[in-house]
Amino acid sequence: EESKAQATMSNSGEAELIHMFKGIPFTTRSSPELLKSLDAFDAREDDVLLVSYPKSGTHWLAGVITKLYDTQVTITSPIEFGDISKLEELNNLSSKRIIPTHLDYNMLPPNFKNKKCKMIYISRNPKDTAVSMYHYYRDNPNLPTIDTWTAFFDLFLKGNVVCGSWFDHFLSWEEHEDDKNILFLFYEDMKKDLPTVVKKITLFLSLNVSEKDIQEICQKSSFSEMKSDTEKENSDPSHTVCALTSNRNLIFRKGAVGDWKNHFTPKQNRRFEEIFNEKMKLSKMAQGFIY
Ligand code: A3P
Repeated sequence: EESKAQATMSNSGEAELIHMFKGIPFTTRSSPELLKSLDAFDAREDDVLLVSYPKSGTHWLAGVITKLYDTQVTITSPIEFGDISKLEELNNLSSKRIIPTHLDYNMLPPNFKNKKCKMIYISRNPKDTAVSMYHYYRDNPNLPTIDTWTAFFDLFLKGNVVCGSWFDHFLSWEEHEDDKNILFLFYEDMKKDLPTVVKKITLFLSLNVSEKDIQEICQKSSFSEMKSDTEKENSDPSHTVCALTSNRNLIFRKGAVGDWKNHFTPKQNRRFEEIFNEKMKLSKMAQGFIY
């Protein structure tokens, strides 16, 4: 993995790391050619999509799901990541595919919708998501350099970060709240009671997993276990499910609910809530996030 210093040097203009596609910022790890051709992507009926805005617990969910399947499935790299040859690789995969993505609903290849593929959307309090993303920007050489939390806070609220606005992303998916093929999960629920969430996932994916196995899977999916597994595995890139890095060591930072309280000033909190209340006034699902 290149270092942040190198990336910054070769990148005095941040435009090199970020390009806009359909009004949304992507890193250059998602080639414009690949993004353009996603509309024609060949979905399979048994594909399962793991959908999230970055830093919402994608790797945690992927870790749980890998453990739930005892047959051969492949957690692929994110669908929007790479160059065009990546799509052929995905097409040729013979096993069942679990496909992570940070795409908003409108950008999702239509075949996933037409074939009513199962999709799991995981979200997290946007204040904690913002804090997690701030640290990720600071640690990840594939992302533009950020000087201060204050600067990042503004970018986040404006949607001027990779994958665009948290608000727009969430709303684009919430519009499909009643679709039977989409399961909505919350990071905070997983923190509070992982076994209950895992049971929900097994029902949704029609997996037959015993109570005992669920308990064991939950233990193995704790923050500390996952973090130390990652350190042992020596960050195997095949296990990264975020288009923004191939280094798993960047993922397991703190794993807590409410870390925003250590970052937001009272003024920032008021401003965040004003914007949240305005943008999310019609959202039912987002109301639980404000605390
Ligand atoms: P923090 O930066 O707040 O620690 P993603 O996988 O979507 O990139 O999300 C990363 C966030 O999920 C990080 O948040 C990370 O620590 C947290 N996370 C990863 N595994 C976790 C686990 N097993 N339990 C709780 N949080 C976890």
